[in-house]
Amino acid sequence: MPPSRSEKTWSRGETRSYRKRPLPQTSWVQCVPSAFVPTYSATKAALHSYAQSLRFQLRQTSIQVIEIAPPYVQTELGGKSQATDPNAMPLKDFISEVMEILKSDPHVEEVLVKRVLPHRYAAEHGRENYDAFFEEYHSRVM
Ligand SMILES: NC(=O)c1ccc[n+]([C@@H]2O[C@H](COP(=O)([O-])OP(=O)(O)OC[C@H]3O[C@@H](n4cnc5c(N)ncnc54)[C@H](OP(=O)(O)O)[C@@H]3O)[C@@H](O)[C@H]2O)c1
Repeated sequence: MPPSRSEKTWSRGETRSYRKRPLPQTSWVQCVPSAFVPTYSATKAALHSYAQSLRFQLRQTSIQVIEIAPPYVQTELGGKSQATDPNAMPLKDFISEVMEILKSDPHVEEVLVKRVLPHRYAAEHGRENYDAFFEEYHSRVM
């Protein structure tokens, strides 16, 4: 899993308390796969699973495993055009919401900005809702 630019900034030690906080970055596709990027989606689901196990294994240590699951964000991950795609969340807004969550909840396990919540919890409202969400998403993007 490549580190993000934000991870690199944090790991420079700007805020000491983050040093023992590995920040695996999953994605909005971890719970609802995107058929547009099937392998990527599967790796993010695996990472989400791995983060939970790692958190449990490290529960009696000072290491806190915090998962960050971004929505679609304006970076160049998917090519130059993504950085200005109006459908993507502006990077600055994403970083500031993430920092707010990290500051306000020292025990946070998953950092979820508001925009990612429908994807994250799509599966928790029953099979029918999940299927409808999956269909609606794919009819929009494919
Ligand atoms: N952007 C989104 O819409 C989005 C949505 C969901 C999840 N995510 C996840 O968020 C994380 C960061 O994505 P991003 O959008 O910030 O992408 P990004 O702007 O393209 O940044 C990717 C980072 O990974 C580094 N990197 C790439 N390949 C590497 C390698 N082989 N070894 C070491 N470093 C490597 C790059 O280093 P250099 O700067 O040196 O090139 C860069 O810092 C990823 O795990 C991605 O899957 C992103």
